[in-house]
Amino acid sequence: MKVLLTGAAGYIGSHTAQRLLDSGHEVYFIDNLSTSDKRNLSKLNISGDFMDINDVEKVQELLHTHRFDAVMHFAAFISVGESVQNPMKYFYNNTAKSISLIQSAVEAKVPCFVFSSTAAVYGMPKEIPIPEEAKVQPMNPYGLSKSMVEQVLLEASKYSDMETIIFRYFNAAGADTTHGLGELHDPETHLIPLTLQHLLGKRDSISIFGTDYPTPDGTCIRDYIHVLDLADAHILGMEYALREKKSNIFNLGNGQGFSVREVIQTAEKVTGKKANVIEAPRREGDPPILVASSEKAKRELGWVPQRNSLEHIIKSQWDFMQKL
Ligand SMILES: NC(=O)c1ccc[n+]([C@@H]2O[C@H](COP(=O)([O-])OP(=O)(O)OC[C@H]3O[C@@H](n4cnc5c(N)ncnc54)[C@H](O)[C@@H]3O)[C@@H](O)[C@H]2O)c1
Repeated sequence: MKVLLTGAAGYIGSHTAQRLLDSGHEVYFIDNLSTSDKRNLSKLNISGDFMDINDVEKVQELLHTHRFDAVMHFAAFISVGESVQNPMKYFYNNTAKSISLIQSAVEAKVPCFVFSSTAAVYGMPKEIPIPEEAKVQPMNPYGLSKSMVEQVLLEASKYSDMETIIFRYFNAAGADTTHGLGELHDPETHLIPLTLQHLLGKRDSISIFGTDYPTPDGTCIRDYIHVLDLADAHILGMEYALREKKSNIFNLGNGQGFSVREVIQTAEKVTGKKANVIEAPRREGDPPILVASSEKAKRELGWVPQRNSLEHIIKSQWDFMQKL
């Protein structure tokens, strides 16, 4: 298959591009490097353009020249905290620009569109583990910016020949040490790389935001899914949409929850170093527990996450960061 991949310089996009290449697919990228640099991209043997997904003329030209089998759309801003400070930045980049890309894909008759959505669309879910049928009620602009795109995509697929696969990721984590890829956000906001940066001596401490949540140790619980398992799901999702001619929504998580304290303790065990932990107040917009039910992806796509151990996930990112 020939895939147009947006956000390939970023974390999940770069890992998925490599998995696509490993599986014999062809990849062309778009990235404007707004929140990334070329470090991960330079490890990938792919061609593409440094441009914005909103550059309609160029996007249309690309789509018409290459006749892609699928668009995999990862490009977005991803910080919940920033989205609370500056919602319009998120509605413009994540929502408006995605709609422009979707419009071009529909016009160019791309048969499959795979979209990176998020567990943040569920807000404060009542049922844990969260099934796809749970109510969508995002509690921050980031989640809302993504759920609006979901709605547009589902409507677009009803009224066109384009099938859409929406993946709601839980917390992507880990690294592809074989190819020297890993999580490289700047600024970093994710717990595992932040903890490891601290344990590498690059930060003075690691903060826990909120120790009075209704969870066994008082800290938030999240579901960490290895980035390579996410990447594999994209290939299965694309194949499913093209084979079954069906659109669908799937959660992608590993179904196990780990508290912030457990993550820090596991990082200490993996690295053999002691963390300096600061207990800070809760952050606005953080639900206490987010754990996925991924039964639907397993059942319908035949997806089997292979790298579920938290220790393995943290070790792969640690190995990657030590080599940086
Ligand atoms: N990282 C996670 O844990 C997580 C969880 C849930 C959902 N997601 C979603 O997965 C996707 C990828 O996340 P990530 O962690 O790899 O993010 P990332 O920040 O590492 O990568 C995003 C990439 O998109 C590019 N980009 C942003 N806006 C663009 C635009 N308008 N035009 C062209 N390129 C643009 C950036 O330069 C960057 O390279 C995002 O859509 C995010 O919302 C991520």
